[in-house]
Amino acid sequence: MRLQTKTTPAAVERADAVVFLLHDNHKPASLGPAFRDVLAEEFAGRPGQLCVIHTQGKLDAPRALLVGLGPRRDFTLPKLHRAVSAATRHLRKIGVQRAAFDAGDAKRAGVIAEAVVMAHYDFDEFKPSKAAPKTKLAIATLHVRAAEAKAAADAVARGQVIGETVNWTKSIANLPGNVIYPATLATRAQALARESRGRLRCRVLDKRALERGGFGGILGVGVGRAREPRLMVLEYRGGRAGRKPFALVGKAITFDSGGISIKPSEKMDEMKWDKCGGVAVLGMMRAAALLRLPVNLLGIIAAAENMPSATSYRPGDILTTRSGQTIEVLNTDAEGRVILADALAYACEQKPQAIVDFATLTGACVVALGNEIAGVMGNDAALVKRILRASDATGEPCWELPLRDQFREMVQSDAATVKNSAGRYGGALTGAAFLQAFVDEKVPWAHVDIAGPAWVSDAKPHHEKGATAFGVRLMIELLSRE
Ligand code: BES
Ligand code: MN
Ligand code: ZN
Repeated sequence: MRLQTKTTPAAVERADAVVFLLHDNHKPASLGPAFRDVLAEEFAGRPGQLCVIHTQGKLDAPRALLVGLGPRRDFTLPKLHRAVSAATRHLRKIGVQRAAFDAGDAKRAGVIAEAVVMAHYDFDEFKPSKAAPKTKLAIATLHVRAAEAKAAADAVARGQVIGETVNWTKSIANLPGNVIYPATLATRAQALARESRGRLRCRVLDKRALERGGFGGILGVGVGRAREPRLMVLEYRGGRAGRKPFALVGKAITFDSGGISIKPSEKMDEMKWDKCGGVAVLGMMRAAALLRLPVNLLGIIAAAENMPSATSYRPGDILTTRSGQTIEVLNTDAEGRVILADALAYACEQKPQAIVDFATLTGACVVALGNEIAGVMGNDAALVKRILRASDATGEPCWELPLRDQFREMVQSDAATVKNSAGRYGGALTGAAFLQAFVDEKVPWAHVDIAGPAWVSDAKPHHEKGATAFGVRLMIELLSRE
């Protein structure tokens, strides 16, 4: 698909369909009086409303797609993003090849570009090639006001890079556990670095290097499995030399069966998505490098498979982690925090300016916030606020949950520094409190529990089934505000 911007009105573009994004009760002058009836009776501009009209020669394009944005006073760019995603999926469904969007200003054009690109993602790698490929737009033209031409072209270019990186991230996150496991994920990370033409560096610690480095948490979860664990460390230096790096840490459990504390079989297939935090960190590094963001970044991804076997770690085991602190394993299914214990300690050793970790950590977070909102907990109010602001701007929704001393007490162990399970109540909070034990209290740190929004189980108008790459757009927004 090709994206372009023009300053002519969308209504005179020779496209297959022209797309109008409309607030309720709004009648665009460019649509003319001929469509008054449709606008009055069929289309109210409700959020998510889509209405195709055949223009019968009254516009240059044979069809127009009216897209509802809801009330103007409630307008946000994330709402526009969602509406354009649904609209583009609809254009593809009805076989449109050339679409003209009445975009307005540069900001909107950037969001539209990103959403149009994202709406072209399909996970069809394993569909037999004979199956008819889904239609894609050949050209999307974004029509903007003349005064906005230069700013719009920049915004569209940026939106395109971010959209493509989201799709790239999903294309790895959606791969199943027999294809992506720690070693093959590491190969992807190395390929990313190679293709970055020197902008990204990647180091991979294999089982032996992890043993030498004392990464007892990652080894505890991942050793004895047919697929051995890895720690990936990516580096991007776009900022001032000597400026402390911002560390992004990700959980990449390439399949979470629960281990000896095995999960019920219903929906266990979805645990191929337990690597989404780590894969999102890969996506963040990719986008930062492509956009040449003026920041120094570290991407630290802990990867392991959580499987039962004769050599698996077991309930009751005590692991000695990178920091020297010990973990009593009460439940082998609380494995994410065990591998993150090492990854966070390692991140702190690099003396970062801040750490943000992304993890599909707890089912409890999904119970608390549902499957669209991530839970954010941190030791630094300013960092949490930056995440919430970036969340509002991008529409990757986040909500702050409390991090309190009493939760830290709940994860104290009789036999070790901490225990990895503290029961059902407040599960998202005790998960974060566990992680906090491995973070230097002087380093600003936030934990984003993406167990809910990391993937979509049932397709929605604005999102296909599968990984969402949650976190990529959010962090690129945050880092761009540096
Ligand atoms: N990966 C899961 C969390 C999860 C569950 C994410 C459902 C998305 C959907 C995690 O490893 C896990 O199993 N957590 C346990 C922790 C408990 C044993 C303390 C949980 O949430 O039940
Ligand atoms: Mn688990
Ligand atoms: Zn897990």
